[in-house]
Amino acid sequence: MSQAEVFDPTVYLNGEWGPLSEARIPVLDRGFIFGDGVYEVVPLYAQPNGARLPFRLKQHLARLQRSLGKIRIDNPFDDAGWRALIHRVIEENAGEGDALVYIQVTRGVAKRRGHAFPASITPTVFVMLGKLVFPSAAERERGAVAVTAEDKRWLHCDIKSVSLLGNVLMAQHAAENDALETIQLRDGLLTEGSSSNVWVVKDGALLGAPRGPRILEGIRYGLIEELAREAGIRFEERDITEAELRSADEIMISSATKEVMPIRTLDGKSVGGGRLGRVYAALYDAYQRAKAREFADEAKRAQ
Ligand code: PDD
Repeated sequence: MSQAEVFDPTVYLNGEWGPLSEARIPVLDRGFIFGDGVYEVVPLYAQPNGARLPFRLKQHLARLQRSLGKIRIDNPFDDAGWRALIHRVIEENAGEGDALVYIQVTRGVAKRRGHAFPASITPTVFVMLGKLVFPSAAERERGAVAVTAEDKRWLHCDIKSVSLLGNVLMAQHAAENDALETIQLRDGLLTEGSSSNVWVVKDGALLGAPRGPRILEGIRYGLIEELAREAGIRFEERDITEAELRSADEIMISSATKEVMPIRTLDGKSVGGGRLGRVYAALYDAYQRAKAREFADEAKRAQ
């Protein structure tokens, strides 16, 4: 890659704006030392007029608040403060195409290394714009390859924590097996992907693993539940056994960066006869309509 092609966005770090390549945090930041922090990934969609708009920002900010609350970090901003910051990050990085906003809040920089929280500490706040290319129509048509593995993570997967070692190892497992995602199982039950929620279709019903400490409740979790209702698809939030996963009519994953994406093979075996699923197709279309609706509502509010 030539110098000219290096993507060096303008980022926000603790009240300062500057190039990503020059952003620095002290090594005693508890995010670095302990993985003591949380994050969010918000998709931005390029509009016909060139604007890039966040999708489901309200829900992302609510989840950020929940994650911070669960690890006892005071939220450094209210929703209006976060919205202003995110819009400034978008403005500072004028460009074309879809993108994402990455937000990270750590407990802050301690005076010395010690596991328990220091009495007084100021959170570190980092916000950057990232590039995002959603899967192409051809990739969707083909479907993705997934492999399975035992879920060995801690039991607070509901916190969107930057302590992601379990997820990182699962993503690496996928990469080493030429797969897009690793689908995890704990005690014989489906949990989630390394960085996605997983959906199973069985006899026309859409099944999702129960919300709770074993999975991160994706912002797309509630959305897909809504979209299923809209499309007249029965939805069941319940335990999904390994046997149900392996005999599924359809499997799909969802995340900010993949929207909803069908899985074509699981551990080398074709899923549901290898054809593109009917439920997937209905949910994908409903997802596109939900985006159009949200952006139209925003345009109306802005008038
Ligand atoms: N990951 N489960 C895990 C473990 C995840 O990391 C993610 C998202 C999801 C889906 O959440 P959402 O619908 O809010 O994107 C579920 C993001 C994209 C990431 O870490 O980059």
